[in-house]
Amino acid sequence: MQKTERQFFAPGRVNLIGDHTDYNGGLVFPAALNMGTYLTVSPSEDDCYHFSSKNDPAAFTLRKEELTQRHHSWVDYPLGVLKEFTDRGLSVPYCRFHYRGDLPIGAALSSSASIEVVTVVALNALCGEPFTMLELVQMAQHAENDFVGMNCGIMDQFASGFGKKDCAIALDCNTLEYEHVPLEMQGLKFIIANTNKKRGLVDSAYNQRRSECQQALELIRAHRPVDCLCQLTMDLFNTVAPYLAGNVLKRARHAVRENENVREAVTALKAGDMVRFGQLMSASHATLRDDYEVTCPELDFLAERAQHFPGVLGSRMTGAGFGGCTVTLIAENQVNAFVETLGKAYEERFGLRADFYVAEIGAGADSVSLLSKLVRKSATQ
Ligand code: GLA
Repeated sequence: MQKTERQFFAPGRVNLIGDHTDYNGGLVFPAALNMGTYLTVSPSEDDCYHFSSKNDPAAFTLRKEELTQRHHSWVDYPLGVLKEFTDRGLSVPYCRFHYRGDLPIGAALSSSASIEVVTVVALNALCGEPFTMLELVQMAQHAENDFVGMNCGIMDQFASGFGKKDCAIALDCNTLEYEHVPLEMQGLKFIIANTNKKRGLVDSAYNQRRSECQQALELIRAHRPVDCLCQLTMDLFNTVAPYLAGNVLKRARHAVRENENVREAVTALKAGDMVRFGQLMSASHATLRDDYEVTCPELDFLAERAQHFPGVLGSRMTGAGFGGCTVTLIAENQVNAFVETLGKAYEERFGLRADFYVAEIGAGADSVSLLSKLVRKSATQ
């Protein structure tokens, strides 16, 4: 049984470009935020696991045999992760798990992934660190797919685990090869605007998009051997597009084009070409709106107004969509005017207040686990 209280942290993320490409074997370009989920683990005084959260009044005291039951509540994220450990034959000591988050919840900044990743990192520490960070993020993703029932890709958990201060992560979701790309901002900022629109049924709409992509892949495979949609270039896609129709055609077209946009955006960023990077962000919003149909009037309003605002190089929705946030690349000296003008216009149009955050790019959960190792080492010295 663990004797002392321990703290862990895992960040949320903002995806700069590359949405709905991860589960199509494509490229993504997220960055970890300095907001996320904190977890305090302390010994349990009885033979139960205790889960509580500062952000949600629902608290749970569970016996070992109750751990596999879903509650349709925030606790399903930690429970799904715990199951990943017990399924691998590991015995997790009885503990109190107390969560506290400073991310807006359900706003497409990966609040759920940050709960999963902070839990997976904490359990790994409790069990003697048997897993690598890559294994941990895969377990976190699997927990969400299998236990929660959301067929998400790996982007969010990966960004939370592998984030690096002031860098974005160019991740190939097919090979899991990745590179940290320094964000040299040249007097620009990424600003996040939260629509604060209630997102309903996101999981089922998301799962439906994913299955439409799967259908496209199967139809294409009858004519061309590919493992995933994002293996196709736009030129190759155009040769197989006649075999697709309707939504299946549109979804696949977005995935292929978005993947090409990410590739070009990463090249542009490395070359310091922020103008091109911004153009690609706006192009990405357009196909998420028109082909993938995961935007909504609130997201379109914020992205399109932003695209015409002085000092803005590009703007797009970020994450799964259906609500949530936009991310905008803007000159630092325009940030205040942007927040004021867009905030006012948005409230007039929708009767909702938007929240704005200048994105601070922080480290992933990995460095926290390193930190906890150092703390432990010095405590034993
Ligand atoms: C959600 C999922 C990710 C990814 C994005 C869209 O955040 O969890 O895996 O698919 O949507 O890019």
